[in-house]
Amino acid sequence: MEALNVAAIGCGYWGPNLVRNLVEIPGSNLRAVADLDPARLAAITTRYPQIEATTTDYRELFDLGLDAVTISTPPETHFEIAKDCIENGLHVLVEKPLTTNSDDARALIELADRHDRILMVGHTFVYNPAVRELKRLMASGALGEIRYIDAVRVGLGLFHPTLNVVWDLAPHDISILIYLLDALPTHVAGQSVASLRPDVDDVAYLTMMFPEKILSHVRVSWLDPSKTRRITVVGSEKMVIYDDVEPNEKLKIYDKGVEALQSAETFGEFQFNYRYGDIVSPFIDFKEPLRVQAEHFLDCIREGKQPLTDGRNGLLVVNVIEALQEAISSTGDQVPVTGELQIGLNGHHSDPADARPARDLIQLTQS
Ligand SMILES: NC(=O)c1ccc[n+]([C@@H]2O[C@H](COP(=O)([O-])OP(=O)(O)OC[C@H]3O[C@@H](n4cnc5c(N)ncnc54)[C@H](O)[C@@H]3O)[C@@H](O)[C@H]2O)c1
Repeated sequence: MEALNVAAIGCGYWGPNLVRNLVEIPGSNLRAVADLDPARLAAITTRYPQIEATTTDYRELFDLGLDAVTISTPPETHFEIAKDCIENGLHVLVEKPLTTNSDDARALIELADRHDRILMVGHTFVYNPAVRELKRLMASGALGEIRYIDAVRVGLGLFHPTLNVVWDLAPHDISILIYLLDALPTHVAGQSVASLRPDVDDVAYLTMMFPEKILSHVRVSWLDPSKTRRITVVGSEKMVIYDDVEPNEKLKIYDKGVEALQSAETFGEFQFNYRYGDIVSPFIDFKEPLRVQAEHFLDCIREGKQPLTDGRNGLLVVNVIEALQEAISSTGDQVPVTGELQIGLNGHHSDPADARPARDLIQLTQS
């Protein structure tokens, strides 16, 4: 396999994780890194002396004969940098959110199509094996009908200087929900507050209604004493908690449920039948999600396939955030979401999980 020549733009908090993976992946030749801050560049080359070039001006990368770049700079800069890179013939992997407005996201998609370049978004959790297992569980029918989904992503910081917590943290949960349900929310509502600085909301409660009346709620906060990354999926047959902070048992399947007995003639006679069964934590063959994501990016370049989280997927997440922001500014009214979901349709989107043999999840959870 011929190695692809790549560079990483942005080496702040998150960028070094991408750098590490691009150094380690066979088939990736990380030749250069770019950051406005020379101290960040020095930190990277001290750790990885094999990197040939560093620059404070990412445009110097265009002379190196590269195939692709990753962009992990602040979200407000994604559009300009990604546009420049695509126009200079590079495939790009942009960190989430793709852009900070949907016009820019659409422009990038159009540009990437026109230049026949891969535009991928770092919706990392879609590449998380526990999330993928959860999706397979839901799709297998083992949970029954999905009643609602609750997501919590809170902790102390990291405060973003200009972008609010909805743009910073909610893209993760929105991309997970779209992936799990293979659908877009039809309506959203939300409320948020700015506790520390007047214009940057740091706590938000977001509600999204998906087709078939699947209610979802996402709570994001930079102002919480306990780091929590938890999603609860409640089905008519079983319930699942996905806890990303848990080192080993990330998924727990609860054989718990309740049904209203049909025989009652008046409301007062309604009887409920509660079921308390086993709690099972399935084995998950865990691999670092960023590694799966970066390998998928390189595979898509080699094979000319659209990534699972391509520019259109990035646009959908931006559309949902824009609708949420509108709902928040209209003091909690419901706002419709625009866009059309294309994940998995027309066969040209590839999915790294397709290569793995499917396990019989129904049997696993019923044993
Ligand atoms: N996928 C995830 O789980 C995850 C986690 C954290 C952050 N992120 C995303 O990663 C991106 C970066 O976030 P961060 O927390 O690392 O931010 P950061 O502020 O810590 O780092 C950004 C870096 O980009 C550099 N930079 C800014 N403008 C630049 C330019 N024009 N050219 C080159 N370098 C430039 C800055 O000097 C800084 O070192 C954001 O899009 C964020 O949403 C993703």
